[in-house]
Amino acid sequence: MSIETASTLNAAWSGASPAEAISLALDYFGEEKITFSTSLGAEDQVITDILWRQNLRVPVFTLDTGRLPEETYRLLDETRLRYGIKVEVIFPEAESVQKMQTAHGPNLFYNSIENRRECCRIRKVEPLSRKLSSFSAWICGLRRSQSVTRNQLDLVQWDEAFGLYKINPLVDATEAWVWEYIRSHNVPYNALHDKGYPSIGCAPCTRAIEPGEDIRAGRWWWEQPELKECGLHGAHAHQR
Ligand code: ADX
Ligand code: SF4
Repeated sequence: MSIETASTLNAAWSGASPAEAISLALDYFGEEKITFSTSLGAEDQVITDILWRQNLRVPVFTLDTGRLPEETYRLLDETRLRYGIKVEVIFPEAESVQKMQTAHGPNLFYNSIENRRECCRIRKVEPLSRKLSSFSAWICGLRRSQSVTRNQLDLVQWDEAFGLYKINPLVDATEAWVWEYIRSHNVPYNALHDKGYPSIGCAPCTRAIEPGEDIRAGRWWWEQPELKECGLHGAHAHQR
């Protein structure tokens, strides 16, 4: 269980396609011990399609922060129906949200980085940590070219923050590849993607980007690019 194992697996699995990488990870960790975390973003929809095509029974979950855009909820329903899969919905602790909003108001994230991180911690990180505690590996839709915070990613990483392995089957994929896959396989995707939102998170913290802007420019747009991680994918998790 360590960084060394991740390096060994990366060497052994290098050159695997996204579908092959998922299969290899499943064989290695076992069906009971690996889970897929979907935000229903474009990359995650590709992974869902790959799992379905290969008939792989990986448990799928999503973190419902309570602040997701309506379009994401619609896509969740469409995805459940289209693939006939169960997507477990994980909520934040009601009491923590109540206390936070009573103390700082509903839109505290705009006031300071500390408030924004606290909201992400309560609505995303704590629920994720709870969910991941019984697994050995989680599958994510991260890509290296998504942002400056992600250019060190590997296919397999030891995720120090949550104490398990993280598998990024699309680590080498380009945005063009993702969209080619979605179109050619007729994968359902978030309606916001056609309205200038390449990356979608919570509604109050996501906006459309202008042509030519960075693909994550619309996420927490009031913050510096190097600070734009919500704690799901922290700095430690990105080191080899
Ligand atoms: S974030 O950290 O900025 O929110 P991003 O939206 O790029 O992450 O998504 C990266 C990966 O994190 C997704 O492919 C997915 O595996 C996971 N993820 C992000 N948000 C969620 C969510 N709400 N529920 C489940 N998984 C998520
Ligand atoms: Fe809160 Fe915004 Fe983070 Fe969502 S993205 S958990 S609304 S700060």
